[in-house]
Amino acid sequence: MAARKLFLLSGDGIGPEAMAEVKKIIAAMNKTGAGFETEEGLVGGCAYDAHGKAISETDMEKALAADAVLFGAVGGPKWDSVPYEVRPEAGLLRLRKDLALFANLRPAICYPALADSSSLKKDIIEGLDILIVRELTGGVYFGEPKEIIDLGNGQKRGIDTQVYDTFEIERISGVAFELARTRKNHVTSMEKRNVMKSGVLWNEVVTQTHKAKYSDVKLDHMLADAGGMQLVRWPKQFDVIVTDNLFGDMLSDVAAMLTGSLGMLPSASLGAPDAKTGKRKALYEPVHGSAPDIAGQGIANPIAMIASFAMCLRYSFGMVAEADSLEAAIAAVLDDGLRTRDIMSAGMQEVGTTAMGDAILAKFLA
Ligand code: IPM
Ligand code: MG
Repeated sequence: MAARKLFLLSGDGIGPEAMAEVKKIIAAMNKTGAGFETEEGLVGGCAYDAHGKAISETDMEKALAADAVLFGAVGGPKWDSVPYEVRPEAGLLRLRKDLALFANLRPAICYPALADSSSLKKDIIEGLDILIVRELTGGVYFGEPKEIIDLGNGQKRGIDTQVYDTFEIERISGVAFELARTRKNHVTSMEKRNVMKSGVLWNEVVTQTHKAKYSDVKLDHMLADAGGMQLVRWPKQFDVIVTDNLFGDMLSDVAAMLTGSLGMLPSASLGAPDAKTGKRKALYEPVHGSAPDIAGQGIANPIAMIASFAMCLRYSFGMVAEADSLEAAIAAVLDDGLRTRDIMSAGMQEVGTTAMGDAILAKFLA
């Protein structure tokens, strides 16, 4: 069997602490022949400190050559004043763009044990299982022009460009429809066709793609603002939500909080399958950020990072049984009452990052 090549980019803040727990799982799996080969690189503020860039060319090459990239988190106040082009987030955006990771899958699952930690009432989120499919390489994140120009009259103008081509909308909605078929067969597309031309096109292309290839899937359209409202009003009406880069960024943070904590949400960013090998480029990252306020204290929640690795097993290596059992291990540890501080509630046992990681690993191996 060919080695399974993983490139680890832990990044800044709590990234390395969370990644350390995944490394333990990888090491344990290797003992029973999983054959993971890992290499590590720098991204974000730590890469800027080392090379003056948010990611070096060498590390970009390694990311391109890997079967999958595991990504921690980037950024922190230390780098607040570095030039825009080399800010920590630029490393992540470059990886997404250069690896052509257009499909970002962000599942929001409410673990039964955490139904009480959400800011919403229990009956609203209990059993929640939705998937946000966010377009990740287009839209206002990458559209040109993107600049601040001096108008010469004491005024400046900040410009970002929201732009989508037909093929981009087609391929991301295709991913959403395909995934819906493996779930509850329902897609809700969100845009702002009432004010944005890109929203009008988005709506048209999703509708056409549906008609041409996926008419067995139930399709709804919703304006993105109303979608945000519906997400907190009655999230269980959704199965798969497909939306653009910026709306997906915001809506996935909302969805994350439904599940109790931002510390719980994994994500997968996937490219198109290679024409010859069928393999997709892929990057797996927790939705939470670098949380500089709690970094280095050993209290960060490693679950989103571990669950991101479970997605990696599932989507990059087809190790479905292992992914299922890692996800079950997370649920079991929560059932046992173990909690990191962000999800702590009365009567539960508060543990740190390492103890949480160890407990999940023990269940996983049991
Ligand atoms: C995310 C993050 C990123 C984004 C930042 C870190 C650039 O918020 O992955 O959701 O805006 O996409
Ligand atoms: Mg975000």
